[in-house]
Amino acid sequence: MTKANADQIAYWNAGAGETWAAMQERLDHQLEPLGLKAMEALSPKPGQRILDIGCGAGQSTLALAEAVGASGLALGLDISRPMLAVAEGRAKAAGLDQAQFLEADAQTYAFAPQSFDSVFSRFGVMFFADPTAAFQNIRKALKPGGKLSFVCWRTPAENLFMSMPTRAVAHLLPPSQPQAPHAPGPFGFADGDRLKGILEAAGFSAVTLIPHDQKIGSGDLEQSLATTLKIGPLGALLRENPDRREAVIDAVRAALAPHDGPDGVKILSASWMVSAQA
Ligand SMILES: C[S@@+](CC[C@H](N)C(=O)[O-])C[C@H]1O[C@@H](n2cnc3c(N)ncnc32)[C@H](O)[C@@H]1O
Repeated sequence: MTKANADQIAYWNAGAGETWAAMQERLDHQLEPLGLKAMEALSPKPGQRILDIGCGAGQSTLALAEAVGASGLALGLDISRPMLAVAEGRAKAAGLDQAQFLEADAQTYAFAPQSFDSVFSRFGVMFFADPTAAFQNIRKALKPGGKLSFVCWRTPAENLFMSMPTRAVAHLLPPSQPQAPHAPGPFGFADGDRLKGILEAAGFSAVTLIPHDQKIGSGDLEQSLATTLKIGPLGALLRENPDRREAVIDAVRAALAPHDGPDGVKILSASWMVSAQA
């Protein structure tokens, strides 16, 4: 039988996982403020056991590990071996024994029932083939009343930091394949009503979605250019059309430059801050 998320497992263990692992410092710079905002809703406490779904290279797992202290556990779970390798190295370097990592699919992994106080995710829960089944499985890992808090993207059009550079090079590249609106992927949960329905169907209560708009960035102009050219929709288009590389680089640099300031390039992002209770 094919594994439930075979496509995503292949994707995050090949090119995408390697790219994310290599670019992690820049991506952490970009995503950390949004992850910390979602973490506020959990208010992690010493001694707690917290699960970090789709933890990637583990920046958020390490922050949770600091908060729960040596008597707690922050378990980062991911399907991507290259990203978990970075996470494990970081935890070791930081001497945080309570940060542990597990290579597993959150949709199907047989969690010990009611074994976590909270579940967190920073952009790691939009990739499930069957999101209702996945959140049912995740809910069973939570103690009754345990909290779920995660951040995910709203629509591409609202996320200017991704859509604006892509628009700026539209005349240089063939159009990208339109994604089915609810397909597993970064924008899989853009539709807030659908997301609320999935979480409720999975048995969560007190489901709350708060739209959050914040300018984010991955560094100075050259660092932002490097991230924009490798990650997300533009990265994929460029890999398919290497002959357009020079023209695309010039156009993206010109599009990012007006957003450069003392804190680097900052452009608007749009996400959902999602919280719920088991
Ligand atoms: C956009 S990345 C975010 C990584 C990390 N949380 C961060 O913010 O840097 C999405 C992550 O979700 C993971 N992922 C995708 N599907 C998953 C699944 N079914 N179970 C566990 N992790 C999954 C990917 O391997 C990847 O590391």
